[in-house]
Amino acid sequence: GKGEYDHFMLKEIHEQPTSLTQALEGRIDPENGRIALSDFEPGTFADVESVQLLACGTSYHAALYGSLALNQAGIQSTALLANEYSVSAPPIDDETLVIAVTQSGETADTLSALRQANAAGATTVTVTNVVGSTAAREADETLFIRAGPEIGVAATKTFSSQAVMLLLLGQCIAADHHGEPPADLETLLPALATMPDAIDGLLETSEADAIAEQYAHSQSYFFIGRGLGFSVALEGALKFKEITYEHAEGFASGELKHGPLALVTPDTPVFAVFTGEEDEKTLKNAEEAQTRGAPVVAVCPDDHRAVDVADEHLSIPETAPDLAGLLANVQLQLVSYHAADLLDRPIDKPRNLAKSVTVE
Ligand code: M6R
Repeated sequence: GKGEYDHFMLKEIHEQPTSLTQALEGRIDPENGRIALSDFEPGTFADVESVQLLACGTSYHAALYGSLALNQAGIQSTALLANEYSVSAPPIDDETLVIAVTQSGETADTLSALRQANAAGATTVTVTNVVGSTAAREADETLFIRAGPEIGVAATKTFSSQAVMLLLLGQCIAADHHGEPPADLETLLPALATMPDAIDGLLETSEADAIAEQYAHSQSYFFIGRGLGFSVALEGALKFKEITYEHAEGFASGELKHGPLALVTPDTPVFAVFTGEEDEKTLKNAEEAQTRGAPVVAVCPDDHRAVDVADEHLSIPETAPDLAGLLANVQLQLVSYHAADLLDRPIDKPRNLAKSVTVE
């Protein structure tokens, strides 16, 4: 049941310290700087030259997160919408690894794309939450995210677990490909180990409810970020529209001035996610919106320069560069939840949506 919580979504947001602990259990060894994914012995990915990640919805945003981290680790990688794959698949050869990312393991679009990749001769892996799911049966290998059941239609705890498992898998692929562990493994592993505590602290101190209240009844809600922060901006907007029924859009920070800025008014709050990836540029982009009267909510650590510039601030703990976006995402999950609650929406079962989309 929901226990002390009014909704499964809120319960599942609060379960993230536990679901991440489960995801990482036995898989990282920060003291020795090692990752151990039992199905993937060192050397498994030595021949991988490129990676395609296939997914839909929130899982696609986790795939984008993982894909960018792979590119940053020197592995050619693309995240693709599974529902576009039948008309737009890039070429596959026997050095292509295809990763299907799906919480349920039953999404029809993702299963079709996985089958297409299998038929084309790719090595396939699925990153999923559900043991015995179709994706787990049909992919060559499976990496379980161990998040536990997710009842709310809005994916929350499974996003953070997917992203973290894709970061770990990416580090293994990069290590095999380059013949040595990526340089940032030393900062990533200890930060991952403390991530459950960091989220606990964030959940206890979050002021997302006050922000949601302050900006309720706005016309539109915009989310901007750069790099890993861009995938978080997309995810923040998807969650917001899915459960509040209000218009929300996510943009790459630098893209605002190429069109979307025309929509910005004092009635369109802009949530700016700062993940340490050229934050100065993102801050400038946010200021361009502010100049048009839009209130800016900075999602960043307390000592960040954006705090002085922005109208409001949602705080995230200091962490490794690859993880800041995931902490920011927890704040955005809470903003969506509280906004939907104020609007009296049926949070766990939004209209027109199903937990698992089994038709193409
Ligand atoms: O089970 P999957 O991860 O394959 O589901 C994919 C999407 O349908 C899903 O993430 C959807 O976007 C969520 N309701 C978003 O909160």
